[in-house]
Amino acid sequence: MPLLIKNGRIVTADSDFTADIFCEGETITRIGRGLDAPPGAEVIDASGKLVFPGFIDPHVHIYLPFMGTFSKDTYETGSKAALVGGTTTLIEMCCPSRNDQALAGFELWMSQAAGKSACDFTFHMGVTKFDGSTESQLREIVARGNSSFKIFLAYKGAFGIDDTELYRTLKLARELGVIVTAHCENETLVAERSRELLAAGITGPGAHHESRPPRVEAEGVHHLCTFAELTGAHVYAVHTSCAEALDVAVAARQRGVKVWVETLIQYLVLDKTYAERPDFEGAKYVMSPPLRDARNQAVMWNGLASGLVNTVATDHAPFDFKTQKPMGRDDFTKIPNGIPSLEERVNLLYMHGVRTGRLSLQTFVDVASTQAAKLFGLFPRKGTIAVGSDADLVVFDPDYRGTISAITQTMAVDYSAFEGWKIEGRPSIVTVRGEVAARDGKFTGTIGRGQFLKREPTHHG
Ligand code: URP
Ligand code: ZN
Ligand code: ZN
Repeated sequence: MPLLIKNGRIVTADSDFTADIFCEGETITRIGRGLDAPPGAEVIDASGKLVFPGFIDPHVHIYLPFMGTFSKDTYETGSKAALVGGTTTLIEMCCPSRNDQALAGFELWMSQAAGKSACDFTFHMGVTKFDGSTESQLREIVARGNSSFKIFLAYKGAFGIDDTELYRTLKLARELGVIVTAHCENETLVAERSRELLAAGITGPGAHHESRPPRVEAEGVHHLCTFAELTGAHVYAVHTSCAEALDVAVAARQRGVKVWVETLIQYLVLDKTYAERPDFEGAKYVMSPPLRDARNQAVMWNGLASGLVNTVATDHAPFDFKTQKPMGRDDFTKIPNGIPSLEERVNLLYMHGVRTGRLSLQTFVDVASTQAAKLFGLFPRKGTIAVGSDADLVVFDPDYRGTISAITQTMAVDYSAFEGWKIEGRPSIVTVRGEVAARDGKFTGTIGRGQFLKREPTHHG
């Protein structure tokens, strides 16, 4: 059904104006004042509301076999939660184990999403080994329209690759024009420090930070940037949490390394004291890199405002507090890592970024949507509001007032890291290619309508 959104304040990364938007056949076909609705069109009055391009989460885990268990969301629950929260495109980390072949891994992850997702999706292809047969498989995956890779410099023995594999992956990425996203922590330092802490009887969630302090992450970013410099590959440091790691990326950028930086909503609004909460409550807040000292939050907010930090993601990795986090009750290294945030990213970024004056509305759109679209080969199909773009739109009500709770959330996990937090503003209408997929906090879309987004490599320069 055609859709007319009237009188909204349209905000993109580079414009801010009031107009109507007409959508037909999955795309935006007209933008202007006083547009008429043809018979049968749904008309949405957006007076007093903001209209944003659909938000993109460039780093999520939906299907994730990890640390001896599986993350809780499926594409059905995860895409519903994304849409309720204003996110219309997911970029998931495809993470085969070192025992699996890349192509089989890609097909497995695709089978989890295709026909099950209500929102559009694509993958960063995890390169978790690089042996004799990997190169041809990665070429095939890129040829199938998946033009970004993911590597882990941490998680020794699971997803982590060695330096020879890193070098070969980056060389191939450079040749193909594919960007490489990277989890940056020095895995030897993590392993040794964890061993020492456990040997000293320090076993609780609060010790997780001490096993991987800021310099461990900065060393990982430095390592990535050194390899990127010598191969010419374009790289993207995922979940950057602290000033030390950002400084290293900025210094590399200054000497010509093509490196982009992602931070997470968790690092912007939570700090390491949450993971130090007593009675194992801190396990809810264990993720890697860990939540940091609060001084880092201003650095990351300023980095977003000034363009040093490019994107805000979630690294959504939901594990139940009652049944999964306790796998590490006596050993923090066994607590499944992750803080579920897919549903709350946009609202928290608006509340703590825009409403506090830390981010302009346009920067908010840029870091939560447009930059990801540009970096990962989705722009201008996604990430903006323009004639010809997909009709992925968020009509946002700045006057909404509410409270976050696990009881009302859509994500399939038994806790909220933000339980009881106040929200000021939320999406009232969310569309995916012209279909209304969420209204006022409720999913109204169609499971299985989400499409795999084919992407050409764009990192040739
Ligand atoms: O703690 C995290 N980040 N969990 C998900 C896996 C990863 O490192 O991205
Ligand atoms: Zn990671
Ligand atoms: Zn991740």
